[in-house]
Amino acid sequence: MTSVLFVCLGNICRSPAAEGMFTKLAKDKGWLSGVNDIVIDSVGTGGWHVGKAPDQRMQDAMSTRGFDISHLRGREFSHSDFDRFEHIIAMDVSNQANIERMAPPTHKGRARLLLSYVEGLSQTDVPDPYYGGADGFEQCLDLIEAGVAGVVKDIEKS
Ligand code: 4NP
Repeated sequence: MTSVLFVCLGNICRSPAAEGMFTKLAKDKGWLSGVNDIVIDSVGTGGWHVGKAPDQRMQDAMSTRGFDISHLRGREFSHSDFDRFEHIIAMDVSNQANIERMAPPTHKGRARLLLSYVEGLSQTDVPDPYYGGADGFEQCLDLIEAGVAGVVKDIEKS
């Protein structure tokens, strides 16, 4: 079908949450029925947490909303992801720029911001919750929820 890659910095907070929420919506749409399935993944532009489970605070915040992301493991963005994924979706401008810097000429401009999928929202970044308190995780998930719903709408249109 198509392929979607969510990108943040550490791949232990925002992008695994986006992957978890988007995967649920994709299942509900029948896009993961076993035939011509959508491919969904998340990565970090930094490599500190490769192989690690999502941050416990994010696992807990997601669990409260009914999502289990405990099985996900950190992965670092790779050049091959430009070819492997049709939609490369960054959580903030900084990570969008990180991807852009790595992009070969044929892939310039590929990374789009998650919040650009939310109609009428001028905010560009899903703030990094890593160094903040519990509120940060909730705000982050509210934004991600709106963003991934917009991604579903966009895919349905195309
Ligand atoms: P994320 O949050 O990009 O949403 O996964 C972060 C996780 C870890 C770090 C930074 C951001 N870190 O610097 O280790």
